Amino acid sequence: MARIPEELVNSIRSQADIVDVVSDYVTLRRSGKNYMGLCPFHDEKTPSFSVNPEKQIFHCFGCGKGGSVFTFLVEHENVTFVEAVRHIARRLNITIPDTQGEREAGSEAESLARVTRFAALFFHDRLLNSDRESVVRKYAEKRGLSEETIKSFGLGYAPDSWNDLLSAAREKGIGADWLVKAGLAKAGEQRTYDAFRNRLIFPIQAPSGRVVGFGGRALSDEDQPKYLNSPESPIYRKSQVLYGLYQARDALRRQGRALVVEGYMDLLGLHEQGIQGVVALCGTALTREQARLLARYGQQAYLVYDSDQAGVRATWRAIEPLVESGLWTRVVRLPEDYDPDSYVREHGPDGFMKLVEQADSPADFMGYHANLQASGERDEVFRTLAGLIRNTSNLVHREMYREEAERRFPALQGLLASELRRASSPPGPPGPGGPGGPGGPRGPGGPGIVGRDRQATPAAPARYGDERVERDLVQLMLSDRTIAELVEGQLEPQDFKYPLYRRIVEQCLARLGDGGSYDLSGLIDTIGDDEAARVITELINTSDSGVHLEQRARDHIVRIKQKRLKESMARLMEQIKQMETGGRSSELNDAMATYMELKQQEKVLLRSARGD
Ligand code: GTP
Ligand code: MN
Repeated sequence: MARIPEELVNSIRSQADIVDVVSDYVTLRRSGKNYMGLCPFHDEKTPSFSVNPEKQIFHCFGCGKGGSVFTFLVEHENVTFVEAVRHIARRLNITIPDTQGEREAGSEAESLARVTRFAALFFHDRLLNSDRESVVRKYAEKRGLSEETIKSFGLGYAPDSWNDLLSAAREKGIGADWLVKAGLAKAGEQRTYDAFRNRLIFPIQAPSGRVVGFGGRALSDEDQPKYLNSPESPIYRKSQVLYGLYQARDALRRQGRALVVEGYMDLLGLHEQGIQGVVALCGTALTREQARLLARYGQQAYLVYDSDQAGVRATWRAIEPLVESGLWTRVVRLPEDYDPDSYVREHGPDGFMKLVEQADSPADFMGYHANLQASGERDEVFRTLAGLIRNTSNLVHREMYREEAERRFPALQGLLASELRRASSPPGPPGPGGPGGPGGPRGPGGPGIVGRDRQATPAAPARYGDERVERDLVQLMLSDRTIAELVEGQLEPQDFKYPLYRRIVEQCLARLGDGGSYDLSGLIDTIGDDEAARVITELINTSDSGVHLEQRARDHIVRIKQKRLKESMARLMEQIKQMETGGRSSELNDAMATYMELKQQEKVLLRSARGD
């Protein structure tokens, strides 16, 4: 990846105006110190998308998305971070010098993109201009592909020839070596020949719409293999591309739900019947990157794989990446011997959508397909479910998956509870109730780390007093540099018990160490932690300018310190009890002395907090 020097990125960031940039896409109205508008990342009728010009940050209280001017472009325009920086630089008339390596990588990618674009047009043209009686036309008709579908997806025909594409390319000055690099031609011992011959062609598009690869289906059963896919190249990373995503983008944003199918023809069959928001794998297993890509557009994923054994196995493996990416995940069960294409053809869009509405939970899916009589398989299911639930970052989803799993497998009840206790952030029982301190207004969805899918989720789980304290203190640190400095002098990041807040505190303190500006918009760009970034922007955009900020911070600090002292004392007391029965007197004396010391520290702490 081409890098832009950090100082330059910082300088561009400091000159950018997030309100100005976002206004290109969203109508913003001033509201207090922020601007508000309709969120471009989810469907809504009342504005919950806020832009904070002072901190140069956006945050949506509806879906939880948030970030800097750069991440806005990354999310909204599906460009890379570097591309976003370049875009802003262009607006500001700042030139970014190219590095040598970057020019070369850039030009190779550009050349490849030119080749794939040329080939896509060539194939498409051959299909559009083919005779009505031709094999490919008859095949398309048999599969129910309309002219509209052929055009929307740029479907094509690779002629039954060894060199039609090669010759057409040569006329355009595109050498055979470039076709080979793009996987469109093969270099044999004698000569180079077209890789796709006599096939229906599916151009594979990146989310930006640019064609990066091809799939090709044989037109008869004798022709093997049934599907051919072009190999990876500098512009085609299979794990990062989903077939049909480009066409599905708007529907995904609107519906918030993606249907994930296995095959090209499944997707096109559904499209033919007016079902939108579908993406397909191109013969690979679903990866984490693909899941994250989907999570940019919607909150829910429905897996609709073939009902055969291969489909069930692939579904099993696809659940985890989806769940881990924060997508609310369901599995649609098709009757035996159907794939989505054949089912929708036979039962129509309504029949198909009925199945979607009845989709299974991951637990139901696993319960249905595993042989629970065999203890090995049952254990496997339990382990998988526990792992799945443990790795669900969205707390509301986690609760819901757990409920579903326990409903399906009552035997899991105790097991999952202890799993979750182990996994969830607060070790130990909740504290003795809230601090009674003032708390800033909070976005919907409760404790902030909770996700985005509001319709499908019940009320957020109860909040811990301790979490509230840590959260408020982090919020104060984010809104005011002097408070961050105060915390720096009084607490260690480890004093924060919730890993999320600890991570944020670490980052804030690291920023302070830089000496320069306490630049939080820059922090968000570099944090590399989506959950933390989301919470940071939420906290910043909900912080009240209020009074007594510093006193509130001091109260919180005392409370946290006291809590940690109490924990150390409790641990020490445990040890002391054991030593008493074990009779190691010298150690016992030391431990008692330490205990008294801690007790004294607590006294001093509380006295200073009262201001005596
Ligand atoms: P049709 O038979 O055309 O209806 O295909 P399908 O959509 O029902 O596909 P199928 O369920 O057979 O396979 C699903 C996906 O797996 C396809 O879209 C391909 O991406 C991939 N696939 C299937 N067969 C082959 C093959 O022979 N070679 C390769 N490389 N991929 C295949
Ligand atoms: Mn099929």
